[in-house]
Amino acid sequence: MIQLAYRSTSLVDDGSSTFFITIAEIIERSLINNARLNITGVLAFSSGQFVQILEGAPSDVDPLLATIIADRRHSGVRLMSRHPISVRSFGSWSMAFAGGGSSAGTIMNLLAGCDSSSDAYRGAIHGLARCVG
Ligand SMILES: Cc1cc2nc3c(=O)[nH]c(=O)nc-3n(C[C@H](O)[C@H](O)[C@H](O)COP(=O)(O)O)c2cc1C
Repeated sequence: MIQLAYRSTSLVDDGSSTFFITIAEIIERSLINNARLNITGVLAFSSGQFVQILEGAPSDVDPLLATIIADRRHSGVRLMSRHPISVRSFGSWSMAFAGGGSSAGTIMNLLAGCDSSSDAYRGAIHGLARCVG
């Protein structure tokens, strides 16, 4: 199993009335597709940025990432980490959502700012799991 995290810039204005409809559409497809693929994770949004963590078999996660990268609702996807895991951090969620709140934003910045093999990175992942749990 692998866990990966990427960061991207939303192309949907979060001040617009369609923003939450767009998020709902993304989450709805994610719940259906990820459950089928046994992929778990979280989508966090703060200040125009997405961070998503995906967990599952590499043969499922990597093709899904390619689909997501091509999605025109965001741009500038930057992979922050991709590493083997034996235990899922988001095992209870086909796709959890952490939006807007200051803790999600803080944790997103932490994730972006530290090495994925560091204790700080692992702490940030656990923090995000607590945000949604
Ligand atoms: C930030 C972001 C995150 C996404 N995450 C997922 C995801 O976890 N799972 C998923 O199936 N689609 C996700 N999508 C949507 C995909 O890009 C794509 O639209 C969708 O998988 C198509 O599903 P369908 O072929 O069932 O219609 C995401 C899109 C964006 C913009």
